[in-house]
Amino acid sequence: STTQVFERSYEGPIYSDGVTLVDGEGEPIQEGRLSEGEHMTVFPEPRPGIEDAPTLLVRYSESAYSNVKEGFTVSGYAAFSKVCTHAGCMVGNRDGDLLVCPCHFGKFDPLSGASVEGGPPGRALPQLPITISSDGTLIATGDFEGPVGPGGE
Ligand code: FES
Repeated sequence: STTQVFERSYEGPIYSDGVTLVDGEGEPIQEGRLSEGEHMTVFPEPRPGIEDAPTLLVRYSESAYSNVKEGFTVSGYAAFSKVCTHAGCMVGNRDGDLLVCPCHFGKFDPLSGASVEGGPPGRALPQLPITISSDGTLIATGDFEGPVGPGGE
């Protein structure tokens, strides 16, 4: 199996002025990077290790979100931990707009705070607060709102 299991708990960097979200090549994510309906994997940088904070970035129209939380959605973007809250596999497949974990088919709705929509996970994927910096790049303004990965229930 090529499924990657995430075993370490996430300690999280200390955020002060925000940290840039970058793609797998380390390139900052510009506001125009995704169109509505697109998803991609990004990483907050600096970070304790690139595998420590894989994050799913999604973009939809603002009106598509059912529970917009102040400070968590900007210009249609929302960001969630990619580490499944069930057993730590990497979420990333899609079923329509749903985020799907390949290990036991946990499903999460990015339009509803990554709430659990199917499978064994017991809680939503924690969300990352984001905004757009003055140079037009997406930045995280704090740590994930809850513990990353399994446990934390
Ligand atoms: Fe994701 Fe089990 S690890 S559904």
